Amino acid sequence: MKKVLALLVAVLLVFSFAACGQQKTEAKTYKVGVTIYQFDDNFMTLYRNEMEAYFKSLETDAVKYDVTIMDAANDMATQVEQVNTFIAQGVDVLIVNLVQTSSAEQVTNLVQEAGIPCVLINREPAEEFIGENMCYVGADARQSGTYQGEIVAELENKGDINGDGVVKYIMIMGDPENTDAQYRTEYSVKALQDAGITVECLFQQTGNWAQDQGQELVANALASFGNDIEVVFCNNDAMALGAFQAIQGAGRTVGTDIYLLGVDALTECCQMVLDGTMTGTVLNDHIAQSHAAVDAAIAYLNGETVEKYIWANYTKVTAENAQEILDILQ
Ligand code: BGC
Repeated sequence: MKKVLALLVAVLLVFSFAACGQQKTEAKTYKVGVTIYQFDDNFMTLYRNEMEAYFKSLETDAVKYDVTIMDAANDMATQVEQVNTFIAQGVDVLIVNLVQTSSAEQVTNLVQEAGIPCVLINREPAEEFIGENMCYVGADARQSGTYQGEIVAELENKGDINGDGVVKYIMIMGDPENTDAQYRTEYSVKALQDAGITVECLFQQTGNWAQDQGQELVANALASFGNDIEVVFCNNDAMALGAFQAIQGAGRTVGTDIYLLGVDALTECCQMVLDGTMTGTVLNDHIAQSHAAVDAAIAYLNGETVEKYIWANYTKVTAENAQEILDILQ
């Protein structure tokens, strides 16, 4: 009887040990709040999807990321409200794509008071707003503008289709309060001038980064200036897609009687560069930028120090390397 009892106790002990071994330690879940200036933006859509996927890929049995991404719908008041809600919910870290960089303070003050680390992305505010436990992840738009201009300067006729010694261009700008729009506008033209090319601006207006506005503006410019327009610079690819529709509508042919430049390297634009329906674009590396933003957020969560500025490089995209870029993006 004693032996049976001892055996029973032993069996019970083994079972309880096994059960203990199986008990998983609870994963630590970090709450991440993200607000994007506007979901209806081709580039920022690629960016936020990549950011979400990258957070997922970094999860382990021990660490999870509960990521909430909000659409600020291009409205600063909405964004401030979202940041307030995130703070009330006790998020551990914030990632903010500002609606208005000139109103950055409205967000950065809240974040500082709450003592929550914050990664600012894509729209660069003035340095004074980037406080303690905050950083900016972006790309230097001067480089993308320069690359646009260089693509034109490297053409056999240097953009001077009618051979009159002057490159006449139109400029379709993004939101003029963004440094991306300001720098791309300035540096694309500067690169032409630095290459010794004489330029003349026929038309410069803002299409707010949007395809439909790009189309409308370029259609208007083509109606006013017709064949005088040799180069169409667009601060981003979405507006270049709109520009292309207008160019087609006006019966003009890219590569023959007009040149068309964008920035971002959306896959459809890389394909157009390969087909010759776009002269060139510039890769705005959403993969590198979104990963850097997530890495910075996680570094804050781990109590590590983060550089104030984290930069990604742009890459020139012409018919020569568009396939290579497409292979990376797809
Ligand atoms: C991109 C644009 C985008 C803008 C949003 C820029 O860096 O090139 O496509 O609309 O960011 O802020």
